[in-house]
Amino acid sequence: MADRAILNTDIRKGTINKNIYGHFSEHLGRCIYEGIWVGEDSPIPNTNGIRNDVVKALKEIQIPVLRWPGGCFADEYHWKDGIGDREARKRMINTHWGGTVENNHFGTHEFMELCEMLECEPYINGNVGSGTVQEMSEWVEYLTFGGVSPMSELRQQNGHQEPWTVTYFGVGNENWGCGGNMRPEYYADLYRQYQTYVRNYGENRIHRIACGPNVDDYHWMEVLMREATRFMDSITLHYYTIPGPAWENKGAATGFETSEWFSTLEKAIRMDELITKHGFIMDKYDPDKRVGLIVDEWGTWYDVEPGTNPGFLYQQNTIRDALVAGVTLNIFHKHSDRVRMANIAQTINVLQAVILTEGEKMLLTPTYHVFNMFKVHQDAELLDLTIDSGTYSFEGSEIPEVSASASVTDAGIIHVSLCNLNHAASATVPLELRGLSGQKVEVTGTTLTGNKIDAHNTFSQPDAVVPQAFTAFTLEGDLLNVELAPMSVTVLEITPK
Ligand code: AHR
Repeated sequence: MADRAILNTDIRKGTINKNIYGHFSEHLGRCIYEGIWVGEDSPIPNTNGIRNDVVKALKEIQIPVLRWPGGCFADEYHWKDGIGDREARKRMINTHWGGTVENNHFGTHEFMELCEMLECEPYINGNVGSGTVQEMSEWVEYLTFGGVSPMSELRQQNGHQEPWTVTYFGVGNENWGCGGNMRPEYYADLYRQYQTYVRNYGENRIHRIACGPNVDDYHWMEVLMREATRFMDSITLHYYTIPGPAWENKGAATGFETSEWFSTLEKAIRMDELITKHGFIMDKYDPDKRVGLIVDEWGTWYDVEPGTNPGFLYQQNTIRDALVAGVTLNIFHKHSDRVRMANIAQTINVLQAVILTEGEKMLLTPTYHVFNMFKVHQDAELLDLTIDSGTYSFEGSEIPEVSASASVTDAGIIHVSLCNLNHAASATVPLELRGLSGQKVEVTGTTLTGNKIDAHNTFSQPDAVVPQAFTAFTLEGDLLNVELAPMSVTVLEITPK
């Protein structure tokens, strides 16, 4: 039982940047190839090689920004291998992810066309680990320079006359690990050097993104902020939710125990602590919060589906993942003064995917449905919401039972997203609506839940876990009494009349 929740509908706490709803697609497993790119000659319906069904589904959730080409792949990617006549493009080994042959058929032009189809912003991640300053500099020139220059001419020869607009550019990925195993002092200097040549051409203004820490590496954040704050617009954070005790034993995506349900959610809500603590360090060097924190890799990471290539990171997605998505997005809302973008890993067929494909078949995961339900928060104003939640206990450990956040749109429509983390018990939330000055309201809602802790969609049953209309509430004066089903994610829409 949540004791009390108060929503101050007249206290606004800043905009929830729509880019918090961003995605990440790496050349990994079946994310790009099969998931997005099938080629022009494929029997799978496509436009210029890009799957139509996937584009339609991603447009529906209003994907605002897409990060590419990695991930670890970014620091071994040489962009010139992915332009020009497709059949003549170099083949390379994808050493990080399964040792497969990368034929470079999906390159810069194909990615930019995908972003145009999705009407989303591209976020391109450059190569510091094995690339040169010149290579990074020329990529930016190729993409964004409209005048006379070698890279601009090369782009034109490859069929794209006008430069593209590219705002988000990452200078390396995980340079503390797969991106070069660097020390923060060394990377900070390299960052300062590389970003110098990431130029603004014409009207294009690049938002320069430094590689930030892994999980709780506060030293990395300290050094980067100390040495390079004035050269960056944002810095990244990577944090994955791994239920098991070790990389070798992360836990299964389905068929898991109740203890794993609990540990997954316990670990997911750690995102709040990480953002808070990294935020303290950022505040020390950037008290005005000019620099954004971009959580450009987050989500669940389980053992791969039995029988699949271990390097492909393919996993099923259940109502547990929906809860992880819901609580994490609520945390990002709360920190929207600092968190300006986040990119769930990864869009299709990899880790906490929103879409799974099998040949021409496609299914939408429970995580997809949460992104669809929560899209109403994109660019809305965060509202003051306090919730004195009851606790959800399991074998001596406790976490809050309910996670919540609220926002209001330009049109004055209020949305409250509520997650009941408890796998077995429903949760009652008496929500006091303040600041409406006697206005009457109309309330509707949508909810997502499952009939067991690993409820999920399959290609034979793609609608096992889908949103339903939510009616388990009563409104008496200013008090909205909400009854949340066990393991559920709910979004209420409150329209003042
Ligand atoms: O998302 C999978 C991998 O996780 C990314 O390539 C890397 O950046 C991270 O370690």
